[in-house]
Amino acid sequence: MLHYTPKDLPVPKLHQLLLGGIGPRPIALVSTISEDGILNLTPFSFFNCFGSNPPMIAFSPSRRGRDGSFKNTYLNLMNNKECVVQSVTYSIVNQVNLASTEYPPEVDEFVKSGLTPVDSDLVKPKRVKESPFQMECIMREMRSFGEGGASANIAICEVIKLHIAEDIVKNGIIHPDDIDLVGRMSANFYSRASGGSIFELVQPKFEIGIGYDQLPGFIKESHIYSANNLGAFGTSQSIPSNSEVENFIEEFENLQFENLETSEEAFYRYQRHNDFKKMLKAALDLAKKGHPKSKTFFELTAKCAIENKDPDFAWKTAIYSGKIKS
Ligand SMILES: Cc1cc2nc3c(=O)[nH]c(=O)nc-3n(C[C@H](O)[C@H](O)[C@H](O)COP(=O)(O)O)c2cc1C
Repeated sequence: MLHYTPKDLPVPKLHQLLLGGIGPRPIALVSTISEDGILNLTPFSFFNCFGSNPPMIAFSPSRRGRDGSFKNTYLNLMNNKECVVQSVTYSIVNQVNLASTEYPPEVDEFVKSGLTPVDSDLVKPKRVKESPFQMECIMREMRSFGEGGASANIAICEVIKLHIAEDIVKNGIIHPDDIDLVGRMSANFYSRASGGSIFELVQPKFEIGIGYDQLPGFIKESHIYSANNLGAFGTSQSIPSNSEVENFIEEFENLQFENLETSEEAFYRYQRHNDFKKMLKAALDLAKKGHPKSKTFFELTAKCAIENKDPDFAWKTAIYSGKIKS
């Protein structure tokens, strides 16, 4: 490990390390208005939501790294305490990047970025038409830490009106593929939060999982299961009993599958197709024939089941594997 005390590092180096370790960060595209009525539009990735009742968000228009001066967004907010914060989607990421240019305060950054201003309902700053998620906000507090370059000014804002494109909301949920957000990472890297990079994981809210410590030793010590597999096993609320496992295997053996093959080659083919039920059929047959890798076949089947969201099947197969000699 590398060990650092922040005050011993040059600020730019510390800044880059923080950007790399804390991400992907959502990007707030913040619209403000100056005392003279000039529209400002700027992205900030030191940003998040901190509560829903009332809806509170915060972002940091920090002091400029080169000279410690205040950014235009900060000055506008201190002047009138109003902003509109919008989410950044992949379709506008280049225009948002353009809006991050250090234009002087008299330049309208809607004009520069080519994004379209739309009147807000409750605040003076404009909304960005091209973003499907827009929040009209009142700044409740500005908290500042430090006075040098890159020091934080945290604008804590209450959302007083939301505007969301109808086509991205289905049954009250915004699906990541429909909104297609981007996140900021280290250096010039971004991430696109849709397609193959998204996955689902149910949060154990009310169900109390048994925890990693309660997993049987033969599961924890197996070299087949990944750390994520063990985490998923630990999320289950109980371990099936021996009789439950025996009943499961007995009933499973009686199930008929069409076109079933039970060779080792077929087992691995089923594995490639995530067909853990046929894997178990093949594993049981291979075990009956005394295949030396029988234990591994059951463990691979349990692994496939837990990765394909069937914890009950996975647990029973995993417990059964514990009864097989390797
Ligand atoms: C994706 C992205 C994220 C950024 N995040 C921040 C941030 O969190 N805080 C910050 O002070 N500057 C951030 N910047 C830089 C500002 O956008 C930039 O300094 C901008 O010119 C400030 O504009 P203003 O003076 O009009 O407020 C970011 C830039 C980009 C492209």
